[in-house]
Amino acid sequence: MKFSKNILCIGAGYVGGPTMAIIALKCPEYKVTVVDINEERIKRWNSDDLPIYEPGLLEAVRVARGRNLFFSTDIPEGIRAADIIFVSVNTPTKTFGHGAGMASDLQHWEKTAHQIVAYSEKPKLIVEKSTLPVRTAEAMERILSGNKKNIHFEVVSNPEFLAEGSAVKDLLEPDRVLIGSQQTESGLKAAQVIVDIYAHWVPAGKIITTNLWSAELSKLVANAFLAQRISSINAISALCEKTDADVAEISFAVGSDARIGSRFMKASVGFGGSCFKKDILNLVYICRSYGLNEVADYWEKVITMNDYQQERFVKKIIKEMFNTIVGKKITLLGFAFKANTGDTRESPGIYVAKQLLEERAALVICDPQALENARKDLAGLDHGVTYELDPYRAVEKAQAIAVITEWEVFKKLDFEKVFSVMQKPAFIFDGRNILDHQRLFKIGFNVFPLGKPSLTHF
Ligand code: NAD
Ligand code: UGA
Repeated sequence: MKFSKNILCIGAGYVGGPTMAIIALKCPEYKVTVVDINEERIKRWNSDDLPIYEPGLLEAVRVARGRNLFFSTDIPEGIRAADIIFVSVNTPTKTFGHGAGMASDLQHWEKTAHQIVAYSEKPKLIVEKSTLPVRTAEAMERILSGNKKNIHFEVVSNPEFLAEGSAVKDLLEPDRVLIGSQQTESGLKAAQVIVDIYAHWVPAGKIITTNLWSAELSKLVANAFLAQRISSINAISALCEKTDADVAEISFAVGSDARIGSRFMKASVGFGGSCFKKDILNLVYICRSYGLNEVADYWEKVITMNDYQQERFVKKIIKEMFNTIVGKKITLLGFAFKANTGDTRESPGIYVAKQLLEERAALVICDPQALENARKDLAGLDHGVTYELDPYRAVEKAQAIAVITEWEVFKKLDFEKVFSVMQKPAFIFDGRNILDHQRLFKIGFNVFPLGKPSLTHF
């Protein structure tokens, strides 16, 4: 079949895979190829055992794969054939050298820029899909335009706003699609090419076009604002615990103001995920590099508060269990950084598990999707850790349960049965406020919700 355009995506991760699957699904006249250096990942994208878990993803992949969606490790050929290249490689926080612990590590991104130059034989449109520091496109353009072949590359920014666990839904019904380009004739033309892709299924009013730098910076700012809301409500949860106010009632009362809005106001053991922390650190680093220290300090506090919330949760477990948890069996219900994903990157579960192990507790970790990653996260430290898929087996003879992830399956457990197999006194620390605390108390548990009065039998 002859396709009207060849789209390539470099990076077959959480963003590249699902994004391209949906573009291929909705644009059958385009050939979409996703390449990666990771052979194992590509092998799994070509099987029914996809490398990431997302509701609805396998169904979408099955429709398009082999029709106009292809996964490959042949990067040179992919680049040669492409008209449009989405760059969706990882941009983690730098762990070495200048800017370590703050700045974005752009080595993967830069490598792809050089690969594009090396293998291109005709002009191409390059799309920044990865989250990048503002003005990265300038550096990208410099690398690309330094080519001796005299090939023109136009760079546009199309940051991704999907959230894990709802990636397919977010891609099918996005709040907005953002496309930033140079405000030149060729820049605007390039932006239109990307608009045309999304216009296959996204209403025109939801496709926003801006200048390049606004698009790059909007992505960092969106994540910073979202994380800020969680840190704000988590800060209030600490005050609630001192004053017998109820953080859920406060979220509802405050969020009912249409100017504030109700979403992203759930107190938790802390936000996790691969991006909030790294993107805020990056924002802080950028502000500092421009001498905007007050601005940097302001955003950095969002992370300070998140660290404090995780620390507070662990301290509470230790204090309420009579200041020692040595040898005590504690079951973590959930390890993923949020429900409906197996991803554990920056999950509060990692911090909580490590701290409890440090205090010599015997941990059982139970998660419907994240046990494989949990094992990797705790490798070498997991002497005394059991991994258990079945929640009822996970709580057998446990002295305490700590809810880390808001999986539906945990809400629906038969807690009378759970109570009957646990040691007494039985404790529940609900790090997500997903359980019916009054009912648990009546069953006999000592219940410690977040930002609400504790319910104890002593
Ligand atoms: P990921 O680690 O899951 O995937 C990145 C992939 O790029 C990996 O499979 C890696 O092997 C591949 N890669 C790295 N260098 C390569 C190269 N030179 N050639 C070919 N492949 C290469 O990362 P991700 O979660 O998909 O994130 C990608 C980007 O998207 C990041 O900048 C992230 O901030 C951003 N983002 C992520 C999410 C999310 O939910 N995870 C959401 C929005 C934006
Ligand atoms: C987040 C953003 O929501 C996406 O728009 C963005 O594209 C993505 O980061 C990214 O750039 O990687 P994600 O991290 O996948 O998506 O998941 P979220 O739903 O945002 O949750 C992040 C963390 O905040 C989770 O640990 C979640 O449990 C926590 N959270 C969320 C709360 O503690 N309370 C809330 O009210 C909402």
